[in-house]
Amino acid sequence: MTARKIIIDTDPGQDDAVAILLALASPEELEVLGLTIVAGNVPLDLTQKNARMVCELAGKPETKVFAGCDHPMVHRLVTAEHVHGASGLNGPVLPEPVMPLQDEHAVDFIIDTLRAEAPKSVTLCPLGPLTNIALAMRKAPDIVDRIQEIVLMGGAYFEVGNITPSAEFNIYVDPEAAAVVFSSKVPIVVMPLDVTHKALVTKPRNDAFRNLGTQVGTAVAQMTDFFERFDKEKYGSEGAPLHDPCVTAYLIKPELFSGRHINVEIETKSDLTRGMTVADWWRVSGREANALFIGDVDADGFFDLLTERLARL
Ligand code: BDR
Ligand code: CA
Repeated sequence: MTARKIIIDTDPGQDDAVAILLALASPEELEVLGLTIVAGNVPLDLTQKNARMVCELAGKPETKVFAGCDHPMVHRLVTAEHVHGASGLNGPVLPEPVMPLQDEHAVDFIIDTLRAEAPKSVTLCPLGPLTNIALAMRKAPDIVDRIQEIVLMGGAYFEVGNITPSAEFNIYVDPEAAAVVFSSKVPIVVMPLDVTHKALVTKPRNDAFRNLGTQVGTAVAQMTDFFERFDKEKYGSEGAPLHDPCVTAYLIKPELFSGRHINVEIETKSDLTRGMTVADWWRVSGREANALFIGDVDADGFFDLLTERLARL
């Protein structure tokens, strides 16, 4: 089996960090061409630094990290320090990164890579607001047909919103960018809150990370120790939801997930519901399906995969 070529577009974030670690631990299945960084959970100067810290934690300082957009396409940046802490990666104490940030802008790296690689051989994996991806599509429309698939974390239907009553954070931060992506006709797989809220780090699952006895296992346990307080207080849930690792786990073991091919549109106009993913789960609109919207996960299988792969780092 040849590894699938991916670009991870991300705003780390503890759950982004775990998604990146899972990908870097899985070279048989995934070839990480680069990490493209966006402002989201915290501003860009922190997300790009956090991404490099995570690569160094993984023992992969050769990973290419590119800084991208520092604000959304139209609206001002909304951040989530109330969830992720002031640094975006609160929990473990990690050393300042020494690996370099690449000179090229993330948007240009996405464009150049899609033009250089064979058509439909590169998958984009957005784990944050969709600004970099949408701007790449706008700047170089020829790349759109060259994308193999977009597998992203964002949106919600049954779980509705986490940053407003109707919107999930990644889509809310840049709904105009999300609208570009969802209307692109590229095959899209969506990991909404409906599924990520089933991927909860319970105490035994976090103990399994900690008991790996490695730097990575300890750091991941400390990340989720920090990250879980928000969801425990808000939803009364058992632990931290690992939103973004659902994306990289899907690319490694898609059989862990199930969903429906449906139409998903993005609300950009309404003040009340801006950033809502209007997901036609019940197929009542007659609008053409544009996404595989995931609804369920084999959570035990997901955590077994995660623990087994993190043990490799
Ligand atoms: C998403 O928003 C961020 O806080 C997380 O990293 C995840 O990508 C969940 O709504
Ligand atoms: Ca994220």
